[in-house]
Amino acid sequence: MIPNRPYRLLLNRRHGTPGVVVLPEGGFRRARAEIESWPGYEPTPLLPLPEVAQAARVAAVHYKDEGPRFGLGSFKALGGAYAVAKLLVTELSRRGVANHATTKELEEGAHRDAAQGITVTCATDGNHGRSVAWGAQRFGCRCVIFVHEGVSQGRRDAIAKYGAELRVVPGTYDHAVRACAHEAEREAWFVVSDTSWEGYTEVPRDVMQGYRLMAEEASNQLDAPPTHAFVPGGVGGVAAAVSVQLRARHGGAVKVVAVEPDKAACLLASAEAGEPVAVEGDLDTLMAGLACGEPSLLAWQELERGAFAFMSVSDDSAVDCMRLLARRKPPVVAGESAVAGLAALLLAARDPFSRAMLGLDADSRVLLFGTEGATDPETYARLTREI
Ligand SMILES: Cc1ncc(COP(=O)(O)O)c(C=O)c1O
Repeated sequence: MIPNRPYRLLLNRRHGTPGVVVLPEGGFRRARAEIESWPGYEPTPLLPLPEVAQAARVAAVHYKDEGPRFGLGSFKALGGAYAVAKLLVTELSRRGVANHATTKELEEGAHRDAAQGITVTCATDGNHGRSVAWGAQRFGCRCVIFVHEGVSQGRRDAIAKYGAELRVVPGTYDHAVRACAHEAEREAWFVVSDTSWEGYTEVPRDVMQGYRLMAEEASNQLDAPPTHAFVPGGVGGVAAAVSVQLRARHGGAVKVVAVEPDKAACLLASAEAGEPVAVEGDLDTLMAGLACGEPSLLAWQELERGAFAFMSVSDDSAVDCMRLLARRKPPVVAGESAVAGLAALLLAARDPFSRAMLGLDADSRVLLFGTEGATDPETYARLTREI
């Protein structure tokens, strides 16, 4: 189905051992109620891929297609925008403007002047910044987004479209994170980051609670619980959110595999080291959303025991899978980061050793999180052209 390409697979020695509760259930209930109340909310499609199941010699493969999410093109719409909403409500209350403002009131401009005095900011590879900018525009605050120089013009434009100010930083995503934190400190802006670090966990926790809704929807859409879930990994936030949510729904029975680009595999490196570590280099992968060199602290606290395995795949295998989905009938439009899990499944399933390590067999029901559509249409067109 796709050519054989190099990949890495590491089983998590600590899988299933008890640890801290990173995402409490109450926080998810609030996130879910809030996001489901937003205009335009609907669950994204869960697509059966029978031909992939056949090729992988498993019982079923389902692909959660985040392309249509709120018109933003990725699951990130669930996290950043929700965290902006929550932050504004809290801050307006702290400033004595409104005790229990609702997002509906904010959208209607009830506290416009006060909200405009609040600036949210973040660093992004594209999708998270788009979500934060979208949230800021909807709920009426100011927004400054930091991108690194490798972020494509298409992704920059998509953020600017929501009225955010863009700042371009030399280096990688991790440099943009640091520049953002520095400016925010100086200007008293509010960082709405999708990654977390020592002393900064409250907002990214909200971001991850929002992500859980994607996994919750998938569980509701499936007839039978999955045995495996393959999730793309950047800083690990979405893989951790999926891990928490699938455990909440299915009691730890689902093997969660976090899949990263081989050029930015910080989760795999951390699992190998037994502690969170950064990977060096220019993180130059096509999978822009996954070009992260340092795990999120919160995500790591979940994944170090919640993930069943870590894998890394090459850019070539991502392009193979984008094309595979683009030429099926009906086509599935999957962006570069969305297909990491599909690539990992197809590569591992054909190798007897990897298959056995992951426990993949004819009864396996695999859930793939296709985390974005063509969020950068020009890149998508270029990469899928020769079909
Ligand atoms: C499309 C897409 N998939 C997956 C991810 C990875 O999410 P995380 O950084 O939470 O691991 C991102 C992050 O930007 C993304 O944009």
